[in-house]
Amino acid sequence: MDAITETARLLSSLRDVWDEEAVDELDHALQSAARAVDDGADDELVLAAALHDIAHSPLFEAAAAERHDQTAREWLTPRFGERVGWLAGQHVAAKRYLVATDPAYGAALTPTSLTSLQAQGGAEVEPALVVHAWWPDALRLRRYDDAAKDPNADATVTIDDVLVIAERVARQRES
Ligand SMILES: [Fe+2]
Repeated sequence: MDAITETARLLSSLRDVWDEEAVDELDHALQSAARAVDDGADDELVLAAALHDIAHSPLFEAAAAERHDQTAREWLTPRFGERVGWLAGQHVAAKRYLVATDPAYGAALTPTSLTSLQAQGGAEVEPALVVHAWWPDALRLRRYDDAAKDPNADATVTIDDVLVIAERVARQRES
């Protein structure tokens, strides 16, 4: 099965998967991608935003969901490249960083996200990450993630839209 077909299967499998937020994991994925598009993000960042929580898919083992940031990175990197995997893989670290550095950010997190923060080790600034060239984009992705839990949002991005972007990213890597 090619990476695009696998991505389609994974995204579809997120319908009706709930993580105690106001939208299911498919709407969360599509809203994350939509917020990235609105922000003028490049294809790789849009794709990472769409797929950052794929480890919540029932197609993964339960253990993979527990370390879901790492699972996303490991799944995405061989298929869509180092940067897509890295960006998706930092969405927990980015939350920990933003809570540590921006009081308004922590105050606006959903109860579910605050609870998981504790399990993820709480607020922390990792010096090696902050100087990474891709870190600003990881923070952008985190903002899309947090804005993608709105039950009243218009669905401006579809699974097919994400797949078109995934195809472009995959093709770019081959060329
Ligand atoms: Fe998320």
